[in-house]
Amino acid sequence: MNLDLIQQACEILRQGGLVGLPTETVYGLAADARNEQAIQKVFRAKGRPADHPLIVHIDSPDKIGEWAREVPDIVSLLAARYWPGPLTLILKKRDSVLNSITGGQDTVAIRIPNHPVALQLLKSFGSGLVAPSANQFGQISPTDERAVQSELGAKVDLILPGGRSSIGLESTILDLHQHPYTVMRQGMLLQSELENFLGESLCLPGFANIIRTPGLVPMHYAPNTPLQLFDIKDLPVFLNQNLIVLAQSPQPDFALQTHWIKMPINFNDYAYELYAALRTADTAGKNLILVETPLHAPEWAAIHDRLQRAALKTKHSKK
Ligand code: TXA
Ligand code: MG
Repeated sequence: MNLDLIQQACEILRQGGLVGLPTETVYGLAADARNEQAIQKVFRAKGRPADHPLIVHIDSPDKIGEWAREVPDIVSLLAARYWPGPLTLILKKRDSVLNSITGGQDTVAIRIPNHPVALQLLKSFGSGLVAPSANQFGQISPTDERAVQSELGAKVDLILPGGRSSIGLESTILDLHQHPYTVMRQGMLLQSELENFLGESLCLPGFANIIRTPGLVPMHYAPNTPLQLFDIKDLPVFLNQNLIVLAQSPQPDFALQTHWIKMPINFNDYAYELYAALRTADTAGKNLILVETPLHAPEWAAIHDRLQRAALKTKHSKK
């Protein structure tokens, strides 16, 4: 790891600038979580509405108390087991947490990312960093440096290199600020795994919660090219269109002219590849991205969630 770059990033953050931050889930757009101007810059760079709250990233569970109050006992157990890692916890916020981070809500989202560069930066910086995914609002989250560059260009002062994000989908968000505990966003840390660990069932968000967690709004995580889910047996119906296919099934002989991206069979590999494949598909100059619907099984919940949101944008824009 290049420690000079980390120092440079710290300096930029102290002056209220923005840094592209590699994490194991997706790349973030980091800014000093105590600096109102820097946070406003994040919202402007992303084109993100002001009421969409940000996650505070920290480097140690010891720092939870700087951001959250009335922290339930279960948090230290969850932190010991899953942090650093792809889990974001929603807790009641301390008064000192800027309202611009929380969208005016009484809760704050906190996570310790599992990436050596992110952890080193957080340690050197010494305080919390907000880091929403480093994409334009509603678009696909970046999973490498190049994608951050193409999403944000000159709006980001420095992008720290950290290779491909090893997970590839955003963290699982678990709301612990009230009972029943709720999985606000599905991720590759599975709901069933958390339920086993906690020894209780977790809820999925109702409509009231969807307003609080904008990552849950339909039409998120979406390419600009229309995207449709399909069953492989229906492929012939689409073949007269200018399309690109993302499929786990092998390319049939009758579709050899079609641009085909073969997707992995295993769910972890699929998550790792998904956003990069969608980016490739989106820049291929096609009129339609066809995605073969993956297996319906609990391990695939986060993948289905992102694909359905991407497809919804298409349905909506056709209206
Ligand atoms: O994996 C991740 O979580 C990545 C990496 C960079 O850490 N970050 C990320 O941030 O996905 P962002 O801002 O793109 O998504 C954060 C999600 C949003 O859906 C937001 O609404 C939700 O977290 N969120 C943040 N604070 C919240 C709160 N207090 N209550 C409910 N939802 C909250
Ligand atoms: Mg995002």
